[in-house]
Amino acid sequence: MCGIVGYVGSKSVVDILLNGLSKLEYRGYDSAGVAIHSEGEIKVYKEEGKLQNLRDLLQKHKSEIVATTAGIGHIRWATHGAPNTVNAHPHSCNCGKLVLVHNGIVENYKELREELSAHGCIFKTETDTETVAHLIAHEYGKVNDLPKAVRAAAKKLKGAYALCVMHKDDPNMIVGTRKNAPLIVALGQGENYLASDSPAIIEYTKRVIYLDDDQFAVLTPTSVLITDINGTQVSKKEEILPWEPVAMSKMGYKHFMLKEIHEQPDVIRNVLSGKLPDINKPIVLDEVKLTKDEIKNLKRIEIIACGTSLHAAMVAKYIIEAFTNIPVDVEASSEYIYRKTVTDLNTLVIGISQSGETSDTITAIRQAKAVGSHVLIITNRPDSIMAREAHSLIPVNAGIEVSVAATKSFNGQLIALYLFALYIAEIKESYDCAKIKELKHEMLLLPQKIEAVLSHKEDIMKCARAFSSNKNFIYIARGINYPTALEGALKLKEISYINATGYPAGELKHGPIAMLDETMPVLAILMPGSIVYEKVLSNAEEAKARNARMIALTSADDEHLKDVFEYILKVPQTDELLSPVIASVPLQLLAYYIAEFLGKDVDQPRNLAKSVTVE
Ligand code: AGP
Repeated sequence: MCGIVGYVGSKSVVDILLNGLSKLEYRGYDSAGVAIHSEGEIKVYKEEGKLQNLRDLLQKHKSEIVATTAGIGHIRWATHGAPNTVNAHPHSCNCGKLVLVHNGIVENYKELREELSAHGCIFKTETDTETVAHLIAHEYGKVNDLPKAVRAAAKKLKGAYALCVMHKDDPNMIVGTRKNAPLIVALGQGENYLASDSPAIIEYTKRVIYLDDDQFAVLTPTSVLITDINGTQVSKKEEILPWEPVAMSKMGYKHFMLKEIHEQPDVIRNVLSGKLPDINKPIVLDEVKLTKDEIKNLKRIEIIACGTSLHAAMVAKYIIEAFTNIPVDVEASSEYIYRKTVTDLNTLVIGISQSGETSDTITAIRQAKAVGSHVLIITNRPDSIMAREAHSLIPVNAGIEVSVAATKSFNGQLIALYLFALYIAEIKESYDCAKIKELKHEMLLLPQKIEAVLSHKEDIMKCARAFSSNKNFIYIARGINYPTALEGALKLKEISYINATGYPAGELKHGPIAMLDETMPVLAILMPGSIVYEKVLSNAEEAKARNARMIALTSADDEHLKDVFEYILKVPQTDELLSPVIASVPLQLLAYYIAEFLGKDVDQPRNLAKSVTVE
């Protein structure tokens, strides 16, 4: 969370910082600020709220920001201290000569704050970041050299940080460093950049250097020096970003979320392209770097992820176990990292992440790598930290996902996971060939079936309107659609702030049924295929008997459903094992329309950020 941009060069610093920050808004949006070297002074402007507030502020002060040489900018997702203007970055030392922006959490900030207070530093904010500004300024006082001061201060910091620092006496210099938080150096002609992520700079240059932990970058308009923490120069490879700048346009849709929901048929086609060339031929997955023997010898698979990616992982457990007989454990990364795990050499560890930079998942895969496990990453960002640390990498190919609520990346992840499960099944010969062929055939039909859902949204809109004033919601399902129920509930919570919970339908009578009455809608996912359909239907009848208002999401042509359900959201039929792909789409739309009726900020819901780079 939090986005950083730094620039040194002769273009308009304000324009570059604002433009860069606008591309990083997915990382946080509770306040924003910039510090600019102008006429030998450092001028700081910051504002609470969305980036537009900072834009307006800078517009008012336009005439005083001239002859700029360098600048740093920040967009915040608050960790320490309320999201207000005082706590917004940049932060500075007491004399105001040293300014910095920070992404991450400094864990030992309280101890440092005490020490620095004893040296006379006066703290104006509640942030951990301000401590770092005082600390670097304190070190600067001893060495009178910005890069040296940053390195000396870094030796005293614990936690996670990406930092971008400027000093009044160095108008043509910015210094950056990182530890467990992303920061890239981007190289221009007579100008250079630092940024949390490539969208901030890609329209200026595609030449980048990926900093590693504990590396330091000293940028002037014409030079970039990378060193280790002792100041020894490190030789780094310049890389070319693997994608083109894309205009982040809503393409006529009211919100990015709606546009991204509609992109799902093409995302699925993209992920399948080249990997499922023909239903009579094996899946092609060159990205998996395990040998056939290694695959045959796999004893266990662990999948680690957070949020929506965790729900994709839960679907994967059903399919991998069904197709390959390999036991699969799924765990939230934040839980995995703080217990003794039995991950070992014979365990394949799969990390799933849209962003590829979720802090807990990065820590988890590093732990798995440390014990010798092969790490396979499924991500939408092939240039991310996770992708770069993976032994094997399956890209999700969903394109940039702007809306904080993950939609198209979920279905991209699912398709990648289906391909992976079938690939393993074909190598192990663990699943019936005719069934594999049928599934492949059905997978190729998924895009057009989703198109059918997207072209008949009236029932979903009607249902959304009917329930938009409800305060609570329950989603139930069994088997492979239990994760779909969780995902549907998560979508509704995060963008409408309605308390929505997903349950395995059979669990309802073990407690949650106590909550049911005419104020509690229950949405049941009923996908024909196995006995689970009948079971969910019985559980739905139990809920109806308690006066709950019932909604069905189904592909069944079952007349009996009309007796139980007030609303029936129909989707095209597919194999039950593939049904989460189709079932997730009406649930995304239902959440979208409810949030939209309630007038919520759909793409940037309160308190959230798209990339969660803190623990
Ligand atoms: C999804 O709608 C959420 N915004 C969130 O749960 C997200 O899936 C989670 O933070 C994991 O992110 P990742 O996939 O980038 O690792």
